[in-house]
Amino acid sequence: MQTESSCKFICNSHLIFIFAVHIDTLKRTVNMKNFTCVQDIGNLKSALDEAFEIKKDRFKYVELGRNKTLMMIFFNSSLRTRLSTQKAALNLGMNVIVLDINQGAWKLETERGVIMDGDKPEHLLEAIPVMGCYCDVIGVRSFARFENKEYDYNEVILNQFIQYSGRPVFSMEAATRHPLQSFADLITIEEYKKTARPKVVMTWAPHPRPLPQAVPNSFAEWMNATDYDFVITHPEGYELDPKFVGNARVEYDQMKALEGADFVYAKSWAAYTGDNYGQVLSKDRAWTVDKQQMAVTNNAYFMHCLPVRRNMIVSDDVIESPQSIVIPEAANREISATVVLKRLIEGL
Ligand code: CP
Repeated sequence: MQTESSCKFICNSHLIFIFAVHIDTLKRTVNMKNFTCVQDIGNLKSALDEAFEIKKDRFKYVELGRNKTLMMIFFNSSLRTRLSTQKAALNLGMNVIVLDINQGAWKLETERGVIMDGDKPEHLLEAIPVMGCYCDVIGVRSFARFENKEYDYNEVILNQFIQYSGRPVFSMEAATRHPLQSFADLITIEEYKKTARPKVVMTWAPHPRPLPQAVPNSFAEWMNATDYDFVITHPEGYELDPKFVGNARVEYDQMKALEGADFVYAKSWAAYTGDNYGQVLSKDRAWTVDKQQMAVTNNAYFMHCLPVRRNMIVSDDVIESPQSIVIPEAANREISATVVLKRLIEGL
């Protein structure tokens, strides 16, 4: 039988419990307005804690997105971003609308001041607020065009969505960054690292076509936000924007850079500096990550964001080896997207 005092105790302890849960929720609630770079995620430890919590139970917040709609806008192709972000939205109970701008939508003019007498019947500046009318959160994929460095590095398309959609916007890879990928990369390194401060080496690798700097810029930005030993290696002429390189060590001798590495992160990118912006300066397959590169590492894990060109960026042997973690890395895209969408919904 409960006495009055035991009842009071139960009530008080119940209140304390509710208060503790509320405090815990408050601690974990990060009202994210937009997500375009590492600063938007705030404290990395808390973001990682949330990622691992969601990985244990990815439907834990399935009620959070009820009657909320995610709109995903693709100006460029995708496999992982499209599928993982859609899955993340489903984890949160959201509805999802996907629009491929180049397949079925009106051709969009993106420049102001243009006399629209050509083949583009709609302007992005009307299209964006219209899209915002039909959803609660917008994801945008819009790569660098390599026509004008200033245009690319000012993130004109992404920023127009932020300015005119009236909705929280997140990058699904923009001209200069790919933060959902970098967050997934960080989660993967945290899962696989064997020392508190692993050596992570990002190496340039050859590719037949010029690729944007978004993934390497972003990876560097996120690695610089950790206390890892972070090294970048590339041939001369492939220097990245110093803003992203930050305090990372840059080593032009790939084999020297890879010595003792715990993680090898391969990526191709086009030249950034001067008149070479957007150019392929080298296709030197001596930079392809092969067994001889991996042999000088500390039995490193191999990472790549995918899609990857085999035997240009990495040999069959390396990508198929037990040290290759490209699939778990891709799987973590669902987790990074779930954390980001959760935080964007919490900020609505
Ligand atoms: N890594 C990545 O963003 O893959 P997709 O281009 O296929 O989305």
